[in-house]
Parts: sequence; structure tokens; C-alpha cells
Amino acid sequence: MKSAFTSTVLVALLATSTTALPSLQTSTKCPVVLDGRIPKTSPPSTFDTTSSPFNPKYVKSQNLTWAQIIKYPHVEPSKFDKSKNSIPFEVTISDASLFVAGGKLQPGFRRAGLLLGNGSDASNEGVRTFHWSIRQDPRRSMNLTHEYMNVWHEAGDYSSNQWSLNAGAMLAQDKPIDTNVSTVGLDKRLWKVLDRRNNVIWTTRIERDTWQNFGIVMDIPANTLQVLYSEDYEPLRPVTKPIHSDNSGGGQYQIGILKKPTETETVVFDGFQENNIDEGQIYGGIFIEDSSKGCTSR
Ligand SMILES: *[C@@H]1O[C@H](CO)[C@@H](O)[C@H](O)[C@H]1NC(C)=O
Ligand SMILES: *[C@@H]1O[C@H](CO)[C@@H](O)[C@H](O)[C@H]1NC(C)=O
Ligand SMILES: *[C@@H]1O[C@H](CO)[C@@H](O)[C@H](O)[C@H]1NC(C)=O
Ligand SMILES: *[C@@H]1O[C@H](CO)[C@@H](O)[C@H](O)[C@H]1NC(C)=O
Repeated sequence: MKSAFTSTVLVALLATSTTALPSLQTSTKCPVVLDGRIPKTSPPSTFDTTSSPFNPKYVKSQNLTWAQIIKYPHVEPSKFDKSKNSIPFEVTISDASLFVAGGKLQPGFRRAGLLLGNGSDASNEGVRTFHWSIRQDPRRSMNLTHEYMNVWHEAGDYSSNQWSLNAGAMLAQDKPIDTNVSTVGLDKRLWKVLDRRNNVIWTTRIERDTWQNFGIVMDIPANTLQVLYSEDYEPLRPVTKPIHSDNSGGGQYQIGILKKPTETETVVFDGFQENNIDEGQIYGGIFIEDSSKGCTSR
């Protein structure tokens, strides 16, 4: 929960593995390991209780409740909510979205994010597919002059992320660890999927008025990641091969908004954030499934 500087740049390292694509099964119901889909009958205050599938304490300002942070937008349920009769929800940030980690305020960020899993559970074994659908609220847009992390898997020691979904203008601090590729030129309007070394392994446009459905197949022992994607109610399809990436260290699935500052050195403790922030991201269909037997919901 400390932070996670993740991100950037463009070294499409496709095809570093010879592993075959997983077979995507339309008919099979794959075993669900952790389920973040919210029943229709749960008010936003459920997120403040242990009835929530997410950690009720983290990651948010100590001065805000989830009932204040979570909204239920009027949009069609996402594809993996329909089958479960569950509902989409929106995670919002404001000027008050300040997080204190280990007694230290993180004034560089405005953030609110839900945690699924505790870092040492069955989502950290074998082959797992992390599912989410994301959608924009036209009344609460991101300001893409900033870099955002919206969905990620943060390593157990909080020093890195095995993968993340980022948006906006990437900070120079988040350039890939093992290359000299610059972040300049990577379009701020793109979603960017990053691996653990901040290489950008896949991008797609941030759509304005439709569900964007993602899956990350994380083969933990084989140290590979594979990205699946679709829009609306289309089936997910693989958009990368399994890419070699260090999956070690366990960790947690995080879903929300982490808005990074501009004009910053440390990213976490300094930099510029504008006032009167009112931004949100709509999520649905959040679950982690067991893909060990080649089963992936599409
Ligand atoms: C929470 O509120 C208290 C009292 O107003 C304030 O001193 C503190 O800085 C706030 N903390 C955060 C993280 O905003
Ligand atoms: C994490 O969750 C798993 C499964 O619910 C549980 O067995 C384990 O004890 C938990 N670990 C911690 C550190 O809370
Ligand atoms: C990156 O830049 C440094 C300093 O210019 C250089 O020594 C190094 O060889 C470069 N690495 C790569 C992978 O190009
Ligand atoms: C976007 O963010 C930049 C940097 O914080 C700020 O200068 C600008 O006013 C913001 N734009 C909008 C439309 O809010």
C-alpha cells in the first residue's frame, strides 16, 4: 500500500515466450478464487464493513468512508456482472483523497483504491486470470496531463508491481528499469499495460462511452503475463502472447485511482496537484479465476 511507482514505456516485448496461447473456454465455468462483484442489494456503506469482498480499511484517506468514495452510476452492467446479477460501481477521488502510509502523508498522490486479497492467499498461486471491466464517467474525467495507475497487482513488499494499467502522461520517473527508452511520445490518451520493469506491453485507446474489458493471465510459476481484451459484451481475446515477467513476491489486486502529481521529484511526497478534483472510474466484473487447467472466462 506504500505506493508503487509504476510505469512507462514502450518496449513492446511481445513474443519472448514460446508458450502456446491458453485455450479460451466459452462454456466452461472456471473456478473463481476471489470475487469482487457486488450484489445489487449492497449499499455503498457495505464497502466499510467486512461484508465487502475488499479490504474495508485500505487504500483511502483516514478521513473518508467508502460510503463517501463509492458511487453507483447509472450504466449497464458489464459483461461479467450480467451473469452474476451484480452491479458496477465508481471509485472517486477529490482533494481529500490523501493517504497516510506508515504514519507518513503521501501528498503527491490523490488516491482511493480497493484491495482484493491479502497478499498470501490462493490468488498468488498457479495460473490466475485477473478480470476487470472499466468505463469512463463523462462528469468525472481524468486529467490526462497527469499519470494514473488504475488497476494493478502490487508485490507483497510494496516495492514494485507485477503489472499495472496506467493512463495519462507518464512521468519520467516511471521509465522502464532496464532500457533507455524515453517516455516522450507515448500518447497520454492510451491505456498502458506495464510489466514489472515498467515496460509497456500493450496499449489501447481510453474509450469514452463503452465498457473496456481486461484480463491478465498471470502464470505465477512460469513467470509470464498475457493480456486479454474486449469491448462492450464481446468475448475477451488474447492481445499479447505470454510475455516473460517476474511474477514472484505475492501481493494484492488493487482497483481504483491513483493520480500522480506533475512537476515532481519523488512522486509520492512532492509535486503539483490542482484543486477541486472530482474524478472517477467505473468498474465492474472484478474477479480472479483459476486458469491452471487452461480455463479462462471470455
Ligand atoms: C484528517 O483530518 C484531520 C482533522 O481535520 C487533519 O488534521 C488531517 O490532516 C486529515 N488527514 C488527511 C489524510 O487528510
Ligand atoms: C489471507 O487469506 C487467506 C485466505 O482467506 C488466509 O488463509 C490467510 O491466513 C490470510 N493471511 C493473512 C496474513 O491474513
Ligand atoms: C543506457 O544508457 C547508458 C548511459 O548512456 C549506457 O551506458 C547503457 O549502455 C545504455 N543501455 C542500453 C540498454 O542501451
Ligand atoms: C490538468 O492538470 C494540469 C496540471 O495539474 C492543470 O494545469 C490543468 O489545469 C488541468 N486541466 C484541467 C482541464 O483540469
